[in-house]
Amino acid sequence: VLAPATTIVRLSLHVLAAAIWVGGQLTLAGLVPAVRSSAPGAVAIAARRFSQLAWPAFVVLLGTGIWNLVAVPPSKQTNAWQAALAAKLAIVVLSGVSAALHQRARGRRAIALWGATSGLSATAALVLGVALAG
Ligand code: HEM
Repeated sequence: VLAPATTIVRLSLHVLAAAIWVGGQLTLAGLVPAVRSSAPGAVAIAARRFSQLAWPAFVVLLGTGIWNLVAVPPSKQTNAWQAALAAKLAIVVLSGVSAALHQRARGRRAIALWGATSGLSATAALVLGVALAG
């Protein structure tokens, strides 16, 4: 059967925002070496512009995530589902905090550490989201 219209809107917004937050980070990381070698100053400009897309997407993820919990009440789910949700919420916090620290970091090591943490935790949140959607 087809999903109801409200489910299509709810999950499309959640997945679109995840595509920007997760896919954008991975794509930007892949483009940075090529941009740096041709126009070093453009890396910071591209990163700043991406953050103006990524943070609104993160806010949409939080908002539609709460909407998901209203539509799919955790109290009616299995223990395994609830455990996956708890893990996902902790990883979402890590994803946001590490992205913010990555943005503020100045040393090469700190930029690499928080950038990798941000990309990996965002990907882990996506995988757990797919698990929750069943
Ligand atoms: C980095 C942030 C997040 C990412 C990347 C993410 C990603 C995803 C993805 C890819 C899905 C699967 C959608 C599908 O296959 O139809 C999903 C589902 C879900 N997400 Fe998120 N999500 C994030 C944040 C949140 C937050 C903050 C919450 C709760 C407050 C949340 C709650 C849920 C729930 C309950 C589902 C299952 C929805 C359903 O079965 O209808 N997500 N998420």
